[in-house]
This record gives sequence, structure tokens and C-alpha cells, in this order.
Amino acid sequence: MTAPALAAEGLQKSFGALEATRSVTLAVPAGGRHAIIGPNGAGKTTLFNLLSGALMPDAGRVLLGGTDVTRDGPDGRARRGLARSFQRNSLFPEMTVAAALMTASAIADGGAAAFWRRFDRDPARADAAAAIAARVGLADQLGALSGNLAYGAQRQLEIGLALATRPSVLLLDEPTAGMSPEETRAMLALLAGLPRTITILVIEHDMDVVFDLAERVTVLDYGAVLLEGTPADIRTSDVVRRRYLGERTQ
Ligand SMILES: Nc1ncnc2c1ncn2[C@@H]1O[C@H](COP(=O)(O)OP(=O)(O)OP(=O)(O)O)[C@@H](O)[C@H]1O
Ligand SMILES: [Mg+2]
Repeated sequence: MTAPALAAEGLQKSFGALEATRSVTLAVPAGGRHAIIGPNGAGKTTLFNLLSGALMPDAGRVLLGGTDVTRDGPDGRARRGLARSFQRNSLFPEMTVAAALMTASAIADGGAAAFWRRFDRDPARADAAAAIAARVGLADQLGALSGNLAYGAQRQLEIGLALATRPSVLLLDEPTAGMSPEETRAMLALLAGLPRTITILVIEHDMDVVFDLAERVTVLDYGAVLLEGTPADIRTSDVVRRRYLGERTQ
């Protein structure tokens, strides 16, 4: 059996007396689409921080393609193909979309050295940036300043910046948060169109997005896995309805 692209085994993390992550185990096969849902404060972002290396667990392991990366920091995990969508405020607001995408790929390729070679004049990198812009729906915005993009387009660019690092595993924390229904549809189409060479774990509150995109869903509650199953399992689960879906349709 091939190892999962991404796995968490018994992850545990406390902040003082608060157990934010309680023995969380999950595995995403290569090419899989797996969603994490759960109420506010359930520990979803904390789990991402443990997976990406931003936080070290108190116990448990993180594996990428079967390799234990628990002791690696964020850079080491990025080198092994893990990417996380950039937070909105870490965009390069003063750069054009093309320059931002080229910068992200240059940094992923080896940082400072790439700057000295004037990567912004490298036609291959420019072509790659244009291809990524097209993939995330920004083909006609290559010359626009990132900071001037509409909100939905900024979030599309965040995905593009993560893609520019050529990840094998992509972590997306609420990619449709704050979006209009139209922007949400565009984001869903973008995510649905990503190639299966990329494994995706996505935190998402919009149940339409979750049920459309994911093959597996993990429900977190008070830091622990309440349930894992197919979208159909989640939809028909009494405990999930009571604890989560019900709360959101009131
Ligand atoms: N660095 C930290 N220090 C102390 N407490 C933290 C820290 N990070 C998160 N927490 C707490 O851990 C719990 C889980 O937070 P987390 O951000 O993981 O939840 P979430 O499921 O992502 O919520 P949301 O849906 O609101 O994004 C919360 O009670 C939060 O206040
Ligand atoms: Mg969160």
C-alpha cells in the first residue's frame, strides 16, 4: 500500500489548560480532497499549524508521503512539497500579480540567489507565472497591483502563490471566507479544477463547497475528531446535525 500523502497520528496540543488538539488522527491519500469542518474554536487552524510546522505538537506525529516530518519546521516541510495558502495580509500588495507569482516561485526555488539572477526577466518563470494566473482565474490581471485586486481575486491570488511553489500537498484555511456567492462559486471551480497531482486538505465553513469538493470529511469538535466519513455520512449523521449543521441553519 502506498503511504498517504499527508497523515496526522495522535496529534496533541495544549495552550495552558486548553486542549486545542486532542489525539487527532487522519490520513489523506495522494490526490485526495479532504475537508475539515467544525464550529468556531474547534481547533481547525491549530491542526493546520501542527501540520505545517508553525506549531510543534505536545505528542503525535506528522507524516508527508510516509516520512516523519514532526521535527521539521515549516521550511523543511515546504521543501517536501507542503504548501499552505498565504494569509491575506502576507500578499505582496505593491507588486503586480505577475511579479508576485514570480517572486513566490523564485523563493521556493532557492531564495536570495534567484533575486540576484533577476528572476523577473526570466521568460520561463514569466510563462509559469502566466500559466498559474490562468489556472486561478487571473489571466487578465497579470499587470494589476495585488493590493488593488477585488477581495475574491486576492484570495484567488493566494492560491496562486501557493501553487507557484509547486506543492504536492496543499492546506487551505477557509478559502471562501468572506466571499460573495459569486466569488465562492469561482473559488469552488478553481479548486475543483486543480490537478490530482496535488493533494488537498481544506478547512471550510461553506457546506456546499465541502460536499461538492471533498471525498472525505473530518468533523472536529473541542479539538477532537467527532466523526470522519464521506460527505453522505456527514450529511446523515445525527450527532453532526445536532452539533454543527443545525447550529448553522438556525
Ligand atoms: N497560539 C494560541 N495560544 C493560545 N490559545 C490558542 C492559540 N491558538 C489557538 N488558540 C485557542 O485554541 C482553540 C482553537 O483555535 P483554532 O483557531 O484552532 O480554532 P478554529 O477551529 O480554527 O476556529 P475558527 O473557525 O474560528 O477559525 C481556541 O479556543 C483558540 O482560542
Ligand atoms: Mg480557524
